[in-house]
Amino acid sequence: MEHLINKRVKEIEISGIRKFYNLVSQYKDTISLTIGQPDFPTPQHIKDSTKLALDNNKTAYTHNAGLLELRTAAKKFISKYNLYYDEDEIIVTNGASEAIDTSLRTILEEGCEVILPGPVYPGYEPIIRLCGAKPVYVDVRDSSFKLTANKIKEKLTSNTRCIILPYPSNPTGVVLSKDELYDIAQLIKDKDIFILSDEIYSELVYDYPHNSIASIDFIKNKAIVINGLSKSHSMTGFRIGFIFAPSYITKHAIKVHQYNSTCACTISQYAALEALTNGADDSLVMKLEYKKRRDYVYERLIKMGFEVEKPNGAFYIFPSISKFGMSSFDFALKLLESKKVAVVPGSAFSIYGEGFIRISYAYSMDVLEDGLNRIEQFVKSL
Ligand SMILES: Cc1ncc(COP(=O)(O)O)c(C=O)c1O
Repeated sequence: MEHLINKRVKEIEISGIRKFYNLVSQYKDTISLTIGQPDFPTPQHIKDSTKLALDNNKTAYTHNAGLLELRTAAKKFISKYNLYYDEDEIIVTNGASEAIDTSLRTILEEGCEVILPGPVYPGYEPIIRLCGAKPVYVDVRDSSFKLTANKIKEKLTSNTRCIILPYPSNPTGVVLSKDELYDIAQLIKDKDIFILSDEIYSELVYDYPHNSIASIDFIKNKAIVINGLSKSHSMTGFRIGFIFAPSYITKHAIKVHQYNSTCACTISQYAALEALTNGADDSLVMKLEYKKRRDYVYERLIKMGFEVEKPNGAFYIFPSISKFGMSSFDFALKLLESKKVAVVPGSAFSIYGEGFIRISYAYSMDVLEDGLNRIEQFVKSL
């Protein structure tokens, strides 16, 4: 009866990152530089508060939008980015993944177009397609991986419903400056177009403070900000994300969220409350370490002769491998087979990622050094 499976579901694919990760797991004794989650343990005080929540029987459903006190804490937390939302403009979700899904399903319908940069995190396109909408990629390989106002302008049509701004970027680590965000804001100021700003890496920006397009007053009404605790507090398994949006959006998004999952996991919400109340600085320690690693990995790649953009956020770096004359998949596979180092082929991030590889530096310095030594030996042998 497989022919009866929803056609759109049949057509979407498991993400290329997962596919490669599954392939890597078949090889023994490999150094993996593939993972997209912090290598730090969840801070102890957050784990303790989770246990306490269990012991205190905090195991029932919560309000669909999440615990009121958690939304209040989230509201305070993001005010540091000049983002101001009331509790009814916040929905606690099961990870940023569900926040993206719920948001896109709230605003998209058949025939809509969604503009997004390529290369890009592979979590958006399948949802756009499931909604019957069309992803419209903007090739950002020649603009330091930045989605610019000029590039967006070329792709705007009367069907454009949303622009996805996924910065700091997975897989490139690139961020947009205040001016670059302002130019995009000006472009859509008088247009009925939503911005979905995925800011899951907002706590991991290295050389200057994080900027959000939703902090521009005339854009806030069109913006949906996605955030969460997976990356900032090393809480990927807790599955806590947030939607911040004007109430005319959240009052509809809450229905999508309700029928999908009722509410985010209750004990995780208590963990999140602790993270945002007493762990506002937890990410600083991790950030300092990532910054050191970023500098190290970048310097090493430059010395090896790679062309590479210096990342300013998240924990990925995306060097070009085009000069080696092979596909990113072949490069990654050969590297894996000959030197036992795993990286993610750029093609996992749309066709615009071809010619690149993604290296994650969410690994200890020792692992990074070993991995990079092997990559160096590999490229010398080519
Ligand atoms: C850009 C981006 N958005 C969203 C997510 C999903 O985050 P979560 O684990 O909170 O669902 C990821 C995870 O890697 C990501 O890189």
